[in-house]
Amino acid sequence: MSTDRTGNIVGKMIAAINAVIKDEKVSYSEYKASTGWLISVGEQNEWPLFLDVFFEHAIESVAAESNRGSQSSIQGPYFIPGAPELSIPYTMPMRDDESGDTLIFRGEVVDQEGAPLADVLLDMWQADAAGEYSFINPTLPDYLFRGKIRTDENGRFTLRTIVPAPYEIPKNGPTGALLAAAGWHAWRPAHLHWIIAKEGYESLTTQLYFENGQWTGSDVANAVKPELLLSLDKIEAQSGPHFETSYKFTLGKV
Ligand code: DHB
Ligand code: FE
Repeated sequence: MSTDRTGNIVGKMIAAINAVIKDEKVSYSEYKASTGWLISVGEQNEWPLFLDVFFEHAIESVAAESNRGSQSSIQGPYFIPGAPELSIPYTMPMRDDESGDTLIFRGEVVDQEGAPLADVLLDMWQADAAGEYSFINPTLPDYLFRGKIRTDENGRFTLRTIVPAPYEIPKNGPTGALLAAAGWHAWRPAHLHWIIAKEGYESLTTQLYFENGQWTGSDVANAVKPELLLSLDKIEAQSGPHFETSYKFTLGKV
């Protein structure tokens, strides 16, 4: 960033905060409490979480103005590189006794003209049926519900996973404490994360949510867009019920 741009942006941020302090007549004791809270965010390594909850959606919406492909959404703080490349038939890494409803996801990746794109790499990650992410909850196996897959020659793939649960920002850290102190809930609606890449195309970072899912209309991270809602079909089979859904991703040319 240039010196001018830094001075301009940081200057505006400081002026905005100072305006709130004067408007609300913030006291010395509130200032001290805020200082302590800011220090604890760093001490408890919650800067990525806090910033992604409250600000990534705005950064993302600026970036999305120049997207040529499908709607994007925030990456959030829980992407872990190095997920395993899965083999066909694609099933997300899960435990033998994994709880949750089976979800069959049928995906398609096309270019801006609607032509199928083969050999597109999709990196997908999600929470389990308890709303927990591997690595973030260290009691889960590494790379649980994190995997990479590729589209076939018709630009399609089928992925077996489970329907994730909504995610609650941890209550025991400073971000959770701030939400509670402000009287706001700490929930993100259930979602699937994607980073989708192919040489020559814009890489797409997005999330897909479930129509009528709890918290879809009041995401704490403000990252739901109407184009990102999946509809779930319940299928009654002999082996028991499961859910199916599908989505078409479009990649823009670079
Ligand atoms: C945030 C985003 C997520 O996708 C998630 O699972 C948790 C937190 C966030 O914006 O901080
Ligand atoms: Fe997430």
